[in-house]
Amino acid sequence: MEITQLREELRRISEEILKPGDFHDTLAPAITDYAALLSKIVKIDSDNEQHRKHVQSEMGQAIGTFWAAQCVKEVIRTQRFVRSLYLAIKEKLNQKAGPVHVVYAGTGPFAALALPVMMHFSPSEVQFTLLEINLQTFDLLQEVLDAFDLRAYIKKCEIADATLYQVEDTAIDIVLSETMSRALIKEPQVAIMLNFAKQLPPDVIFLPEEINVGLSTQQKSGTKPKLIKSLMEFNTSLRQKLVNETVGTNWQFDEVTVENDIEEDEQIYFSTEIKVYKDNFLDFNDCSLNLLERVKTGKLSPKNLKFRYTLKEMPGFMIY
Ligand SMILES: C[S@@+](CC[C@H](N)C(=O)[O-])C[C@H]1O[C@@H](n2cnc3c(N)ncnc32)[C@H](O)[C@@H]1O
Repeated sequence: MEITQLREELRRISEEILKPGDFHDTLAPAITDYAALLSKIVKIDSDNEQHRKHVQSEMGQAIGTFWAAQCVKEVIRTQRFVRSLYLAIKEKLNQKAGPVHVVYAGTGPFAALALPVMMHFSPSEVQFTLLEINLQTFDLLQEVLDAFDLRAYIKKCEIADATLYQVEDTAIDIVLSETMSRALIKEPQVAIMLNFAKQLPPDVIFLPEEINVGLSTQQKSGTKPKLIKSLMEFNTSLRQKLVNETVGTNWQFDEVTVENDIEEDEQIYFSTEIKVYKDNFLDFNDCSLNLLERVKTGKLSPKNLKFRYTLKEMPGFMIY
């Protein structure tokens, strides 16, 4: 496909993704077309060990190229993030002359959340710094940027661990990252956002804006969980509190005590709700990030539990 044809197709897809409303008939087909378009440009081999391998960072695991390439197919996730980024850039453009500077930490092989948005702004309106930790993923991203001829939008594109990345210039307007799994386990989302919060002024927009993890029960498989207690609301005020309290990267999260009257043998879960930006939410069952995660209490009584979020090689909630 010629560059102009590729861009026309991307533009058409982006218009479907940006349409208002939670769901519409042409949304899922547009996401299918988007994934197909990207897979025409780069070949990712599901049997290739290198493409499946995760990269371990100090504060979370970066999923392998093949897995990162699958994320785009999550219809509601991709729609909510793309719409949020578009909206946040629009808002920043209302407040200042361009270009708005977006740091996209953990691009995957396609920078899938940014490409559709680029079709709606000029390079003088938005500039991106793209960061990716996985070398193979990074190499494929270069092919994608060239295929669509998008270099004019790219201020920097670096192989870097975004949990440690040092910004050279604090003139950054938006930080976008989707490096998370359900219940904020395993992947480094929290460490990445804190690393940028520590270095940037408080008016920077973080996407997602807020991630809430709670403790829930579920009556029947597939039904909406019932929240017992919120365990963490990871939003601007918590990020600022942690930045103010923390020396270096020794992030310490508050302990949460949960006393409740559930049965000893009742299964409890971590539930995850995300406010990506403004009225773009991801709630129970919208995508893999909202799946329930079983709480493994072992010999502990579920009636009295303590939880503390911990950043380490495998982040997650400690239970004791
Ligand atoms: C869940 S995938 C999402 C890919 C893409 N942004 C999307 O939404 O479709 C997360 C990506 O972030 C990258 N990543 C994870 N941890 C990272 C880190 N500490 N620094 C930079 N990139 C990271 C992974 O290698 C992976 O490509």
